[in-house]
Amino acid sequence: MSKSVHVHAFRDLLDGGGIVDDPERIATYTTDQRQTFTGSTFAVLKPATTKEVSDIVRLAARLNIGIVPQGGNTSYCGGATPDASGRQIIVSLERMDRIREIDPVSMSISVDAGAILKNVQDAAAGAGLLLPLSLGAEGSCQIGGNISTNAGGLSVVRYGMTRDLLLGIEVVLSDGTVVSDMRKLRKNNTGYDVKQCFVGSEGTLGIVTGAVLRLAPLPARRATAWLKLTAGAPLAELLALVRRESADLITTFEFMTARSIALATAAMTNPPAVGAGPGGAVLVELASSSSHLDLDGLMEAILGEAIGFGWIEDAYLAQSGVQQASMWEVRETIPEGEKRRNGSVKHDISVPLASIQRFLDVAGSQVRAHDADLELSVYGHVGDGNLHYNVLVPPDADRIEFTREIERGLSLQLYDTAASLGGTFSAEHGVGRFKKHLLEKYGDAGRIAAMRRIKAAFDPSDILNAGAVVRPFEAGSIG
Ligand code: FAD
Ligand code: MLT
Ligand code: ZN
Repeated sequence: MSKSVHVHAFRDLLDGGGIVDDPERIATYTTDQRQTFTGSTFAVLKPATTKEVSDIVRLAARLNIGIVPQGGNTSYCGGATPDASGRQIIVSLERMDRIREIDPVSMSISVDAGAILKNVQDAAAGAGLLLPLSLGAEGSCQIGGNISTNAGGLSVVRYGMTRDLLLGIEVVLSDGTVVSDMRKLRKNNTGYDVKQCFVGSEGTLGIVTGAVLRLAPLPARRATAWLKLTAGAPLAELLALVRRESADLITTFEFMTARSIALATAAMTNPPAVGAGPGGAVLVELASSSSHLDLDGLMEAILGEAIGFGWIEDAYLAQSGVQQASMWEVRETIPEGEKRRNGSVKHDISVPLASIQRFLDVAGSQVRAHDADLELSVYGHVGDGNLHYNVLVPPDADRIEFTREIERGLSLQLYDTAASLGGTFSAEHGVGRFKKHLLEKYGDAGRIAAMRRIKAAFDPSDILNAGAVVRPFEAGSIG
């Protein structure tokens, strides 16, 4: 059957705006976020209902056409990008963006999977509640993408990853079956927790069409501070101090080096006058839904202790919402700052908190030994043991070539270091198409075998996002 016959067959399932087959418009969906790989497809399907998703999957399975689910296309590992074969269609959830229900008593929100994270945060805030998932891409990424990558972000230290916020799910399986489990229960021990299979599965097990997320009370007070660290300041001890002395009211503990801050402020129109000490800087936030707690006083006391221990040389406590926002903007603009300078080779590593300093020391020597002229942008969610240990692409280098060269050599040394400390090569960005070889290299063989069996059980014909994460076959390579 020719591609145009396929297009007609899919068009019949969808209403007017539901299919894109014009090559120019298709091109806006086929390149990954980092612009390192462009795949090929003959159509982008944009279903408006769960039934349409199910119909698409049934037809695709019958025609043996692969499906790549796509949300906001903000992920970093190529999982939302089709391969080069031209035999995979993209299913974009962008038209399924409804807020279905907010339940202030159960403190939950039910949404379509294509709802943009920022819109869901705003809807929750409108009801006096907080959706405690926050990341730099929140204006474009979708809840279905957040679930499928188990997104982390800037408040994991308090509220956990997306996995921890998921109460219910609606998902279309590879034969078109709809799993409808949109419950808002905290307790539901009725067999396997099927919804969790889809978290972090990167579109390889099902297409998420709806979700129920846990909300929290909206903070009434926030104390936000920018800490300049002394040389060798112990990050894990500083974090432990803040957690203990704030009665665990911490929501954010973000580490940044001077280079990362400079990249961000260079990309901002009105940057605040913050900087780093010799040990870097940390953005710390405490938040409370109680308006009776003196969070600023608490923060000042904690900062005083940290100065007394010799861990920080200076600190600013934000005096207004505007100052808070501008400190946050610095942190959130780092990826954009890297991009403007010619990009970075990203290493989204995580190690147990006690080993963060060791990782920084060993990785630093590895980088210097590789090439003393390399520049780094190191920052991240240190409250969760997660560092973005990024090698900056020199302004005059070919970005793709440079990235390939680093990924073939230095990156593996850095991942070896993380692995030797009990860490991982992907803390929050996933595996997608780009990190499969790393899963193969560093993953436990038994765990990979278990992943393959899960994939084979949910998608035996490998219709869903073939080429990402794992394939259902027992022999040969992962992808
Ligand atoms: P996409 O990129 O479209 O897709 C991601 C994967 O999920 C793909 O494999 C795709 O096939 C699958 N998928 C998408 N939607 C569905 C669905 N409905 N059903 C089944 N599968 C689906 N990530 C973090 O974890 N923490 C951060 O702090 C963070 N900060 C970022 C900052 C910036 C500036 C950028 C650009 C990205 C950042 N990311 C971060 C990465 C990215 O935003 C997250 O991975 C996000 O969760 C991806 O959502 P998305 O809707 O864009 O998904
Ligand atoms: C972040 O924390 O800003 C992202 O996960 C890292 C990035 O965008 O490179
Ligand atoms: Zn991150």
